[in-house]
Amino acid sequence: MRQSRTASDTRAALDCFAALAMTRKGPSPMFDKAVARSVDQIIAISRAYAGDARDGKVDFGIGVYKDETGLTPVMRAVKAAEQRLIDEQRTKTYVGVGGDQKFVELFAREVLPDHKFGEDVVGIQAVGGSGAVRVLAELAKSLSPEVTFWLPDPTWPNHRAILGAVGVGMANYPYPKFDAEPDIDAILCALDGAKQGDCVVLHGACHNPTGIDPSLDDLARLTEGIVARGLIPFVDSAYIGFGAGWRKDAERVQVIADRAPEMLLALSCSKNFGIYRERTGAALLVGKERDLAPAFSNLLTVARANYSMPPDHGASIVRTIFENPELREHWLSELADIRDRINANRTALSLALARIKQDRDWTYIDRGQGMFSLIDVTPEAATRLREEEAVYIIPDGRMNIASLDASKADEVAAKLATAL
Ligand code: LMR
Repeated sequence: MRQSRTASDTRAALDCFAALAMTRKGPSPMFDKAVARSVDQIIAISRAYAGDARDGKVDFGIGVYKDETGLTPVMRAVKAAEQRLIDEQRTKTYVGVGGDQKFVELFAREVLPDHKFGEDVVGIQAVGGSGAVRVLAELAKSLSPEVTFWLPDPTWPNHRAILGAVGVGMANYPYPKFDAEPDIDAILCALDGAKQGDCVVLHGACHNPTGIDPSLDDLARLTEGIVARGLIPFVDSAYIGFGAGWRKDAERVQVIADRAPEMLLALSCSKNFGIYRERTGAALLVGKERDLAPAFSNLLTVARANYSMPPDHGASIVRTIFENPELREHWLSELADIRDRINANRTALSLALARIKQDRDWTYIDRGQGMFSLIDVTPEAATRLREEEAVYIIPDGRMNIASLDASKADEVAAKLATAL
C-alpha cells in the first residue's frame, strides 16, 4: 500500500514536471520580444577592455581615475572614515527616503556656501550622480509634463538615456568639441527655440566628453540668458575638484545658482571621493523657501517610488570626512594629487601628439578640464584602434586621460596617430 502510494506520487510529480517543461517550450509571454542590445558605448567599451587579454592594452574608456599602476585606489581619507564607521556605527536601520540629511546639508554647504540649507536649497541623497539626474528629471516631468530638456551637443550619452526613460522632450544646443570656447551667443540663439519652463542641462565643471568649460564670465552671461528666457538651469556636476580645484570648480555652480531663481542640481561623489561603487550623490533644488517645501515633498515621492531609500555607506563616508576638519584636509590634498596627475597626463599626451602629428594644434588637450577630451576620429577608426592597437577609446572619440600612464605617452600617441 505504502509502496503504491509512493509510485503514484512519483508519477504525479513527473506529470507535473512534464507539464512545466511543455509550458517552457511554448511561446514566451514576454522575453521573446527582447532584442539583445548593449547598455551604452561607455559600458560596452569598459566590458570589452576587461575581456581583452593583450599585454599593453590602453584604457581610455569609462570615466574612472587610475594611478600609474592602473589601480583605482581607495583614498586614505576614505579608508580612515570607513574605519570610524566600523568602530562607531551602532545601527543599520533605514536612514529615510531623503537619505542622510546631514550629508546632503554639508555637501550643499561645500558647493553653495552662500545659500542656506533648508531655506533656499533643499535636497536628498541620491544613488550616484546618475541617480540624481534621474530623480530630478522625474520631478521636472511630474511638475511640468511638457518640459523639454536642452542638452549640449555633445553630452554624456547617459543623459539622453535617462531623459528618454523619464519621457521628457529633448533638444540640443551647440557645444565645441575640440579647441574652441563655447559660443554663448550661438547657445542662446538655439535656446530662443525653447519654451518657458524648459530645462537647460549645464555641466557644472569638467564637461563630459569635451573637457571644455566656459569661462566664469561666459557662464554668468549664459545663465543670465537662460533666466531671461524663463528657462531653468539643470546642472549636472560629477567632477567638482577635478578641474581647477574643489573650491574653484564649485564656484562655477555657485555662479549659476546666484543668478537663477530656480535650479536643479545633480552632484556626485563617485570621482572626487573615488567611491564609484558606493553610488553616492545628491539631488538638490535651489529656489525660494516658500516653493521649496512642496517641491521637496514631491522629490521624496519620486525617490520612494524609484528605490525607496538610498544606500548609506558612501554618504556616511563623505559626511564623516566633511564633519572632521583633519580628514577633510587630508582628502583635499589627495584630491589635489589626483588633479595634478591628470593635468600631468594631459601635458604629456598633448606634447607626445604634437611630436608625432605636427599638422594639428594639440594644446587643447593640455588646456582641457577634468578627465576627458575628444580626438577627431571616426567610429570606424576608434574600432580599428581597439582591434589592432588595443587602445580603448569611446567611438565618439572620447578619451579618459585620467587613466593614462604618462611614461607611455609617446607610445600611446603613436598608436592614436594611426587613427587620425
Ligand atoms: C563616464 O562618463 O564614463 C562616467 O560618468 C561613468 C558612466 O557612468 O558613464
